[in-house]
Amino acid sequence: MNSTLQDLSGRTALVIGATEGIGRATALAFAAAGANVFAAGLGAARGRSLEEEIRSAGRVQAAFMEADVTREADVQAVVEEAARRFGRIHAAVNNAGTEGRFGPVHEATTEDFDRLINVNLRGVWHGLKHQIPHMLAHGGGAIVNTASSAGIQPIANIALYSASKHAVIGLTKAAALELARSNIRVNCVAPGPVNTGLLHRMVAGNVEISTIAESVPMGRISEPEEIARAIVWLCSDAASYVTGHTLAIDGGLTVG
Ligand SMILES: NC(=O)c1ccc[n+]([C@@H]2O[C@H](COP(=O)([O-])OP(=O)(O)OC[C@H]3O[C@@H](n4cnc5c(N)ncnc54)[C@H](O)[C@@H]3O)[C@@H](O)[C@H]2O)c1
Repeated sequence: MNSTLQDLSGRTALVIGATEGIGRATALAFAAAGANVFAAGLGAARGRSLEEEIRSAGRVQAAFMEADVTREADVQAVVEEAARRFGRIHAAVNNAGTEGRFGPVHEATTEDFDRLINVNLRGVWHGLKHQIPHMLAHGGGAIVNTASSAGIQPIANIALYSASKHAVIGLTKAAALELARSNIRVNCVAPGPVNTGLLHRMVAGNVEISTIAESVPMGRISEPEEIARAIVWLCSDAASYVTGHTLAIDGGLTVG
């Protein structure tokens, strides 16, 4: 295959939810592929350290802006600032997510529901709402939303999380259909268990990570970089005919 198809030199990637875990690895992977990176999310200190890490490698430009995806004005400001800074956003990743509380669905509170849906679903929609007009005005682009294997195959005791990720997959597919003739591809990734703070917080005191790893056909959980590489690929020209797809990156978890 022509390796230039995965070369993102001269392009700009916007990663929202970039301060930790999969998002941070994705920002670094975009930079390694040659793209300038505009990173956004919660946690200014971690965001600045990411910006510095990318900049100090000396290949591409990087910027960070603190933003809460539950606030539409924050997401709008991120898209506007990324466009002002780099001119055009070629790739956008809506990755911010929260784990919610482990336990039976009937024990969740209204506050649990609102928090989870606001971050995991409304946050992705805020991203689409402001990224799409920019891409339409600039001739196209690629968007990747972070769903989960729990959005394909629900998991007991994380019902609201599972529901939010099913919704992200539905939102992604509908947006892809709307934009299929506008040179904007919209896909999502569905990671299985990934070695990040989110997974460890989600199951702490309830399930051992070794038990989760054993339940995966490949016998291990993944590292964030393994998800990041797939996200960058989906945003590259190598994936030029891929839209509306949910890419499971789960060591075979959802196969059976
Ligand atoms: N870790 C896993 O096992 C796993 C599996 C499947 C899907 N995911 C999904 O991957 C995505 C990234 O999660 P992760 O595992 O890297 O977790 P993480 O906790 O390491 O990172 C989550 C990121 O989202 C950001 N974030 C959370 N709430 C936010 C908000 N309101 N506004 C802006 N940013 C916010 C955090 O600051 C952080 O940068 C999430 O959407 C998560 O649901 C994770």
